[in-house]
Amino acid sequence: MAGRGAATAVVYKTGGSALTMDKLIISGGKPLQGRVRISGAKNAALAVICASVMSVDKVKLENVPDISDVQAMIEIIRHLGAEATWLCESTLQINPPSRLKADPPCHLVKKLRASNLFLGPLLSRFGYTKVSLPGGCNIGVRPMDLHFKGLSSMGADIRIEGGFAVGRAPNRLQGARIYLDFPSVGATENLMMAACLAIGQTILENVAKEPEVVDLANFLNCLGAKVRGAGTDIIKIDGVPELGGCQRYTVIPDRIEAGTFMVAAAATRGSLVLENIIPPHVEPICAKLREAGVEVLENGDSIMVNANGNLQPLDIKTLPYPGFPTDMQSQMMAMLTMVNGTSVIVENIFENRFQVADEFKRMGARIKVEGRMAVVEGVSEMHGAEVRATDLRAGAALVIAGLMSRGQTGISNAHYIDRGYHRLEDKLRSLGVEVSRS
Ligand code: EPZ
Repeated sequence: MAGRGAATAVVYKTGGSALTMDKLIISGGKPLQGRVRISGAKNAALAVICASVMSVDKVKLENVPDISDVQAMIEIIRHLGAEATWLCESTLQINPPSRLKADPPCHLVKKLRASNLFLGPLLSRFGYTKVSLPGGCNIGVRPMDLHFKGLSSMGADIRIEGGFAVGRAPNRLQGARIYLDFPSVGATENLMMAACLAIGQTILENVAKEPEVVDLANFLNCLGAKVRGAGTDIIKIDGVPELGGCQRYTVIPDRIEAGTFMVAAAATRGSLVLENIIPPHVEPICAKLREAGVEVLENGDSIMVNANGNLQPLDIKTLPYPGFPTDMQSQMMAMLTMVNGTSVIVENIFENRFQVADEFKRMGARIKVEGRMAVVEGVSEMHGAEVRATDLRAGAALVIAGLMSRGQTGISNAHYIDRGYHRLEDKLRSLGVEVSRS
């Protein structure tokens, strides 16, 4: 995918089926040292861009990461008739469509799970949506039953037709009281957006409390919506007839990018200062790093991570926020491969998020996976190898493993990593890492 011009580090050329420039090569064995500025949150930016199609006037978004998932989302809203222009590296201006131009393009929707977030916005504003089912991905089936059930209870007619979710709401959606069987991030976001333009009040219970959900609620209120309670178990939305523009909205920093760098610093026994952080958002990660014996010091919107000497093994269970985030599970596993002792990881969110363990084993790790549980026996040394990323966070975890290992590691399918990490190579080089692409 072509990037947005010179600022984008890598342009993929599709040579036949394989992508070229899709392998990261890392020379490991050195501690990370220095300072790194964290970019805007992928999972907040994607939801906010989706919500922008509900607005009747332009919006200006700041701190938007120029990553391939955001580029794909921009292509989708352009296809729907919106204008989207980068005013500078991380500021995006969107002029939303006055009417729905077309269904989101299938080839784009399929590769971007977050495209399922168009359901609520398009149904509530235009009364119609046809979104290709994003399908499962490498970390799990990714069903959408909670999305569909909630929208149906608001009066939408949702049908699955030939691999598409087709939604119709000839009359405006009606407010409803909805209890989510599971605090799904996507379902919370879709239903919150749909409720903004519904008639009457919607009460969402047992909702996701992730910071990205709160960020979306704040953006919706900037557009003139009436959303209360985001970040708690119950969100109340009073429908309004129309949503206006938003002069300026700054997306929150990416807590998972921050966590990835924090764990990389700990795994390489380095010393790192991270800037542009909201400390409470990374508290679950900081708590686990401190438990392992890492020094983590907060200072306003910066955090310093110092790790020297031996770390302690950990027991980790992934849970909805504010529990330990599933999106940090693979990265933590990477660090624990060289922590003396036995660590146990339980993945409670996605049913297939241990695939990266096989790649770690090629580098010398000792990991036993049994269903939702992985047992990691720390080894004294890992060695570079040719490995393959199977999803975004697995790719990030393999970067960490490469940084920890003696010798060179080649990570293919690096396009997965580009989905969620802005200028990763530049940031790593600034911290003393020898990294290249081939
Ligand atoms: C969001 O995915 C994030 N993606 C994921 O980040 C993140 O891992 C996940 O939330 C959990 O925090 C974006 O925000 C774009 P869910 P989402 O609905 O919304 C089940 C990354 O690496 N479920 O909270 O798809 C589902 O199967 C990505 O940045 C249903 O059963 O996650 C899963 O087991 C990966 N029915 C669990 O809930 C539904 O209708 C959590 O899914 C919906 C979900």
